[in-house]
Amino acid sequence: MESQTERDAPVAIVTGAARGVGAATAARLALRGYTVALIDIPAEAPGRVAPVPGPYVAATGSDLDLAAASCVGRGHAWAADVRDDIAVSAVVESVLERFGRIDAVIAAAGAVAGGAPIWETTNDVWRSMIEINLTGVFNIARATIPAMLASPEPRNGRFVAVASAAAHHGLPQLGAYSAAKHGVAGLVKALAAELGSSGISANAVAPGSTDTAMLQASAAIYGLSDPRDFADQARIGRLLDPDEIAATIEWLCTDAPAALTGSVIDVDGGFRP
Ligand SMILES: NC(=O)c1ccc[n+]([C@@H]2O[C@H](COP(=O)([O-])OP(=O)(O)OC[C@H]3O[C@@H](n4cnc5c(N)ncnc54)[C@H](O)[C@@H]3O)[C@@H](O)[C@H]2O)c1
Repeated sequence: MESQTERDAPVAIVTGAARGVGAATAARLALRGYTVALIDIPAEAPGRVAPVPGPYVAATGSDLDLAAASCVGRGHAWAADVRDDIAVSAVVESVLERFGRIDAVIAAAGAVAGGAPIWETTNDVWRSMIEINLTGVFNIARATIPAMLASPEPRNGRFVAVASAAAHHGLPQLGAYSAAKHGVAGLVKALAAELGSSGISANAVAPGSTDTAMLQASAAIYGLSDPRDFADQARIGRLLDPDEIAATIEWLCTDAPAALTGSVIDVDGGFRP
């Protein structure tokens, strides 16, 4: 049962919230006073979720519970695969039933697969990359934007997708991932054009190599023994911490960037592939 304060608080939905950038963002938004709905893949339900080909392994239910518990009493965990539009809509409906509003949506869920040039890429790799990284953002946008538009004016809604340096660059052996992340940039720009003067902005952040489970999988795909080898790709000469990405997302959820919409903001330490 939520308190009176929680019922009046702004509400954020974060996908991919069990760990990494999503978990760091959820924690920051909770500290800022948001009630946070943390969504991640129901990995503990074998058979329900098609695995991603290759070394990438999604988070577990206990990762999700831990991330929710780190949200200073304001975190609420929901399991849904972002590829599954019906499951995503059902979670959004129950968030609305419980908290009555949505103020910020962070689409951070993502996965990585590859390891071959485009012409040798399998259907499984192609489909999983497009469905998780691009359709997943579409699904959460389509499920949440109508509720944000239905909120009383003046509105101050925020939609933030986590793209990638791969939204600007074509990364070798990660063609499907790069295509999906370029798609995320296009989706967010179109969304911003459609939302116009509604008071709801749509932006993306484009992280460089960030020290998470996904980077470990990327290193394995490239045959690197240590993800820190990616540090050379950043002018700052080190990997980014997930909290550094989360800090920019948190800022995008404040009142300050009122003039910012349709932008893809690089948080990449000066990425130079
Ligand atoms: N780590 C990097 O170097 C890096 C660089 C650029 C962009 N990104 C992007 O940052 C975002 C966060 O990734 P991260 O680095 O924190 O990695 P991560 O693997 O720690 O986090 C991704 C989260 O998404 C969840 N997820 C995966 N598939 C899902 C699905 N189908 N439905 C619901 N949840 C799902 C995972 O369980 C995990 O909790 C991703 O969109 C990723 O593409 C990461």
